[in-house]
Amino acid sequence: MVGELDRRELIGSLRMYLEELRESGVDGLPFAPLPEPEEAAKMPEQVTGQSVAAAVAAPEVSPALPDEAPALPAEDLPAIRAALGECQRCALGAKRTNLVFGVGNPSARLLFVGEAPGRDEDLKGEPFVGEAGQLLTRIIQAMGLSRDDVYICNVLKCRPPGNRNPEPAEIEQCQPFLLRQVRAIKPEVIVALGTFSAHTLLGTSAPISRLRGRFHDYHGVPLMPTFHPAFLLRNPAMKREVWEDMQQVMELLGLPLPARKADA
Ligand code: URA
Repeated sequence: MVGELDRRELIGSLRMYLEELRESGVDGLPFAPLPEPEEAAKMPEQVTGQSVAAAVAAPEVSPALPDEAPALPAEDLPAIRAALGECQRCALGAKRTNLVFGVGNPSARLLFVGEAPGRDEDLKGEPFVGEAGQLLTRIIQAMGLSRDDVYICNVLKCRPPGNRNPEPAEIEQCQPFLLRQVRAIKPEVIVALGTFSAHTLLGTSAPISRLRGRFHDYHGVPLMPTFHPAFLLRNPAMKREVWEDMQQVMELLGLPLPARKADA
């Protein structure tokens, strides 16, 4: 049996988890099978498959919560990809060739988040495969890792036409899926590539030059903003700063620091 204190702790954790789910765009939980009508009448609403919002709004301690409440399902990347489906949540859906979900190790310790797919990525369905992507690959290799060790994705899953900046409505639709990806991967560190990614993930409009170089917090995960590889292609002198940022990331992950810097 669970004591009153344990019960309060359990309910507190459950409430936090439900709040996180709601924040990430999940608005309902499947509970199967549904109880018989008489049993349901005896149960509080929040354990009978009602909306997350209703569950979160429930009183702090529910005396009627059964000791053996069903475990909440952990979401994996294929489930999140399936939830996106043939996404038409914003206007970009109609124009894309491929939805670019993400690539790499589903349990990566290090997650790179870029802005949005470009032309090459849209055609291939994989993030960072164009010129900027090749530079990112070299940065990853300079860290002693490969693309298969890390996970790479973008804030937006579909290409904005003409590589224009993402619009607020597009971000609003896509961002919950990114948060769900982060929760599934559970990275130890996130690197936000470029202004747009850093601004979206951190909810700030501070210049990237002021954000980079130190860790910030993204839902409990240390996040290092740095310059976007496409910016580095135009401003190669800035590679030094990016390498400094990546060395901090490597240190946090306990990776050996190579003697040579990225000669990308
Ligand atoms: N730039 C990005 O931000 N993401 C990509 O996938 C490619 C280029």
